[in-house]
Amino acid sequence: MEKKVVVITGAASGIGRATALLFSSKDYSVVIADRNKKGSEETLRLIYEKNKKADAKIIETDVSIEKEVKHLIDQTIDTYKRIDIMVNNAGISGQTAQSDDPLEQYHEIIDTNQHGVYYGIQHAGQRMVELGIAGSIINISSVMAFISSGGAYAYSASKSAIVIMTKIAAQMFAKQNIHVIGIAPAGVNTPMLNGLGQDQVDYFRNQMLGGELLEPEEIAELIYFSASNKASAINGSTIFADDGYLSFK
Ligand SMILES: NC(=O)c1ccc[n+]([C@@H]2O[C@H](COP(=O)([O-])OP(=O)(O)OC[C@H]3O[C@@H](n4cnc5c(N)ncnc54)[C@H](O)[C@@H]3O)[C@@H](O)[C@H]2O)c1
Repeated sequence: MEKKVVVITGAASGIGRATALLFSSKDYSVVIADRNKKGSEETLRLIYEKNKKADAKIIETDVSIEKEVKHLIDQTIDTYKRIDIMVNNAGISGQTAQSDDPLEQYHEIIDTNQHGVYYGIQHAGQRMVELGIAGSIINISSVMAFISSGGAYAYSASKSAIVIMTKIAAQMFAKQNIHVIGIAPAGVNTPMLNGLGQDQVDYFRNQMLGGELLEPEEIAELIYFSASNKASAINGSTIFADDGYLSFK
């Protein structure tokens, strides 16, 4: 039987890399789609280090550019003749509240986190429909979609947009048996969170019921489950992966 194919954006680091490694260990062909070439090569190296017979490839992609996302999906299908799972994970964070914060940062966050996920849903979903594949689309949102936190206008708005786009896409693709599910993590131990500085890391750690950040591998497991047939009861929802973070707000 031919291998199933998963495309993972933002797979050069953090949650995306852990997800690429997990799917590869489950015998998927893995497409690493990131704008960071060096990080992508490291993910590829880690995949082959674990299993010389793995199948993975890099398609360098900037998800904020629509024609690059189209190229990503076209190239994937040219190579493998199929796409089973699209994980729209690439994202950037940043504050956009101060009057002296550059407007470019606001637009860059929306272009990447919101538009990038839209392009991923549309291009992957349409090709799944054409190919008659009952696939899955998993979109990575954030708990910041649901609460206000310290002026992250663009980040929170983009992550809220992912929640509603997940619902819309689930409805649009339901007849083709394509499931669309969102995941909203809280503090995960990745370069994104650690890059915010020790104060932020401590803040997030203290909000988790277990008193520890989540590990990217824990989110990867949830992505893997959500994309599987075992998650057949879920469609259009965004699942919290927050160790209680939002339950006590
Ligand atoms: N780490 C957390 O605490 C946390 C919490 C909630 C949600 N998230 C979300 O999880 C996702 C993964 O984040 P992470 O924590 O693994 O961060 P990370 O910084 O480790 O990884 C993000 C990856 O996305 C890539 N990327 C950024 N912009 C891109 C673009 N325009 N095109 C292609 N690739 C691009 C980066 O190169 C990087 O490899 C993001 O969407 C993030 O918002 C993270």
